[in-house]
Order: sequence, then structure tokens, then C-alpha cells
Amino acid sequence: MILFLVGYMGSGKSVVGQQLSEILGYNYIDFDDYIERKENATIRTIFETKGEIYFRKAESSYLKDLSKLKETIVSLGGGTPCYGDNMQTLLNTKESVCVYLKASIPTLTKRLFNERAKRPLLAHIDSESMLSEFIGKHIFERAPFYEQSSLSIQTDDKSISEIVEAIVLKLF
Ligand code: S3P
Repeated sequence: MILFLVGYMGSGKSVVGQQLSEILGYNYIDFDDYIERKENATIRTIFETKGEIYFRKAESSYLKDLSKLKETIVSLGGGTPCYGDNMQTLLNTKESVCVYLKASIPTLTKRLFNERAKRPLLAHIDSESMLSEFIGKHIFERAPFYEQSSLSIQTDDKSISEIVEAIVLKLF
């Protein structure tokens, strides 16, 4: 099985993916790290030097590399399912499951405000209230893609281990 974790930036995809892979003895791929290795540049540098359209094309083409993997957990980027035919690629991947890690706007705002420098789409936002408004609109646009996942987990009131346990109970 290949398990794709989808969800907005800051929803816990990486940390949940890592723990899940340890528990299941699966391989683990952080898709942002994968793109950075392939492009030999950080996501931030790719956005700055080549622009978002270049990044989205590269993201879409690297996503197709993953479709033959087995026993792997992949934490995707927050935008991955929302561009081109990526969601279709995920859903058509053999023996794959998409899990949506859902978090509320206040939770995401709190988590992302101090980490926004690492995220090119958020780095320019100066206040928590503007960040909260941005996240709200952005999730509204992206939710129709995230919601195509076969499982969604509400994460606000759960610890990382509880999220991992909920996924294992539902899928294994
Ligand atoms: C993005 C999310 C980031 C990264 C890039 C764009 C997005 O990944 O792929 O900065 O469009 O939501 P994380 O969700 O891992 O932060």
C-alpha cells in the first residue's frame, strides 16, 4: 500500500507520516524534501528564483515518480493535490489511500505564524489576523481537493500518537 497524507501547511503531515512509517515498518517520503533533493535547492529558493509555476510543474512531474512504490507513506505538500491532475494521479495510483489531516483555522494560524518564513506562500503576511484570513480563504479553495481523500481525520483535539492510532485503526 502507498499512503498519501494530504492537508494544509501545518496540519502535521510530516510528523504523522514519520511516526506512522516507524510503526508500520513502511518507507517514508517527505515530498517537499524529495523535490528539494531532486532540484538541489530549497523550496524557498525554487519559488524565489524560478517562480511558483515552475515549482508546480516540477511537483506534478515528481509526483508521477511515486506511483510504483510499495509499503510507503508519503507526506505531500499542502498544495500538491490542488494543481493540474495531481489529485487524479493520487486517486489512480494502485493500492493507494489518501488521508486528509484536517485542522481548524485558529489551530493552523497559531502553528504557522512563527514558521511562516519557511513557507514562501505565507512569508509576506505580517499579522496573525491577516494570516488567519488568508488561511481561511485558501482552505476554502483547496477543500474540494482535500475532501476527495478516502479518510479524513480531525486533528485539533488529538496528539500526534492519537492521530497515528486513528489512521492505523481505520486502515489496517
Ligand atoms: C505549499 C506547501 C508546502 C510546500 C510549498 C507550497 C502549499 O508544503 O510544498 O511551500 O502550496 O501549500 P507543506 O504543506 O509541507 O508546508
